[in-house]
Amino acid sequence: MPQPVGTVRSPEGTYEFTFVTSDEKKLKSGEFVYYILDGKKVMCRIVKRKPLRTYPDSFLSSPTIHPSKILKALGINNDTQLFEVKACVMGYYDKKLGFVNPRIPPPPGEPVYLAESDVIQETLMKKRVGEIGSLHVGYLLNRDEDVPVVLDASLITSEHLCILASTGSGKSYLSGVIAEELMKPYNRAAVLVLDPHGEYHTLKEMEGMDEFCSDNYRPRVRVFGKDEVKIRLCELEYSELVGILPNLSDKMEALLKNAYENMPEKFTSQQLIDEIMRMDDSYTSRALVWRIRRYIQGMDVIDDYIHMELKDLLRPGQLSVLQLYEMSDLEQQVLASVLLNRILNARIAAEKGKTGEVLEYPVFIIVEEAHRFASRDARSYDVMRTILAEGRKFGVGVCLISQRPSKIDPDILSQCMTQVVMRIVNPADQENVRSSVESIGRDLLDELPGLTKGQAVVAGVSINAPVLMRVRERLTSHGGVSRDAPGEWMRWTSLMDGAVSVSSGFTGKAGNYSKEKDKKEKDKAEKDEKIETGKEIEKVGKTGKAEKTGKSRGTKKGLKIKQKNARLFWEE
Ligand SMILES: Nc1ncnc2c1ncn2[C@@H]1O[C@H](COP(=O)(O)OP(=O)(O)O)[C@@H](O)[C@H]1O
Ligand SMILES: [Mg+2]
Repeated sequence: MPQPVGTVRSPEGTYEFTFVTSDEKKLKSGEFVYYILDGKKVMCRIVKRKPLRTYPDSFLSSPTIHPSKILKALGINNDTQLFEVKACVMGYYDKKLGFVNPRIPPPPGEPVYLAESDVIQETLMKKRVGEIGSLHVGYLLNRDEDVPVVLDASLITSEHLCILASTGSGKSYLSGVIAEELMKPYNRAAVLVLDPHGEYHTLKEMEGMDEFCSDNYRPRVRVFGKDEVKIRLCELEYSELVGILPNLSDKMEALLKNAYENMPEKFTSQQLIDEIMRMDDSYTSRALVWRIRRYIQGMDVIDDYIHMELKDLLRPGQLSVLQLYEMSDLEQQVLASVLLNRILNARIAAEKGKTGEVLEYPVFIIVEEAHRFASRDARSYDVMRTILAEGRKFGVGVCLISQRPSKIDPDILSQCMTQVVMRIVNPADQENVRSSVESIGRDLLDELPGLTKGQAVVAGVSINAPVLMRVRERLTSHGGVSRDAPGEWMRWTSLMDGAVSVSSGFTGKAGNYSKEKDKKEKDKAEKDEKIETGKEIEKVGKTGKAEKTGKSRGTKKGLKIKQKNARLFWEE
């Protein structure tokens, strides 16, 4: 039988209660505990903790001496700290129903237990590490031992995922972890990454790593550079063509439709222009041709000859990275719009048994900088909205990654049924996340500014209850490593003639000098602290006063009164 870690003090409403513990380290905010009701373990999450005893203010008035030392000098034992911990009741876990809240908080005096690793995995995770459809993305943040956090790949694919956090918090790193998990032998997913910053090519390393291979499986990673990321003009549907050209008048659209219908199966943009001018030489046709020159001929992603086949991009066991850097925002949006439309249509065609371009398997698309593609003014807005709303029916899953969640249309964001939120500092974005990500409790949202790199709150359908997580280490290297500007300056200057000796000489000296100085200062600080503490304790002993300064009452009676007060403060 496990040892209890605390005892229930009092219920606070139906879903919360407080308990008292002397545990100093384990019971952090976000940690899981349980009490036993009718033989069932009722899981609860810690939302707050505070010390039950505080020092008298006078003990705190001297910044150089720790109040515990004063207590010690007064002969008061302060070995046991007590804490009041607030926990919210999640319920006992039923495999069919999920968490069932008993609606009866535990009575005072009831023991509270720290949830064991296997209890957590059993109740919180929908999958086990390495199981088919599992995504082992990290470990519980609060635990020293590794308690894996495992998401459900199938629910992410059907009900989408978002990763929201300020820049540099580890979004792309985590998305790389998810991509790795999706390509493991137990998932073998069909994944496409829209990569505007060139961070995902390093995933290619997985092709040669044992962790990703089994007897009959080895993942494939294809990286499409700017020259290969192309859509051939004649492969565009008419509606896609219209979607690319902005502000078409009715007349222009009618003209374009006629010209398009007259085109042979394969045609170039110049042939389309020639046909328009042949049919009509007017202000309308010239305005239409101007748009074709600007938005089709002027855009590298639309090509007269090269075309990416969907089946080359998306197939089970393959991850394709589309490198979008060096493309304008507009080009990226047009590409996303055409590609996502086509993917959705190919999935619909497969599900409904239609002919034409079909994808017979579900696909997963990772969209970095999602606010560029999913804001209301983006060219790709309509298709994003449709995919997020309809995608689940047809097996098109999307992972939206963004540092500007407030710019993503709330209707789109609210369709992401699994949410990972990492450190967010901007108050507007914090507020936006608060309102759009409902499944994360307020207590966990309060943790957001305090999270550090690689730490996250995970919530939503692919996990049974929200958890705080530290992201697991990548197996492949992360392509988005932050630049080390001073390091680069050093290297650059050391390559210059004669600079080597100057720079290394300088660093050496400065380094030694500052180390010596640091040591001297540390020694002096330690010495000063000892002297100060001695003086203080001596003073407290003589006068019964804890303050370093202030008037001395200087009597034995004073000492007794102070000791008594201190005890009262400390013990009550
Ligand atoms: N979980 C992690 N473990 C170790 N390093 C990390 C982790 N998450 C992020 N980093 C490092 O932090 C930096 C920024 O991470 P990145 O994922 O590129 O941030 P973001 O995409 O949120 O801007 C990178 O250099 C990366 O290597
Ligand atoms: Mg990033």
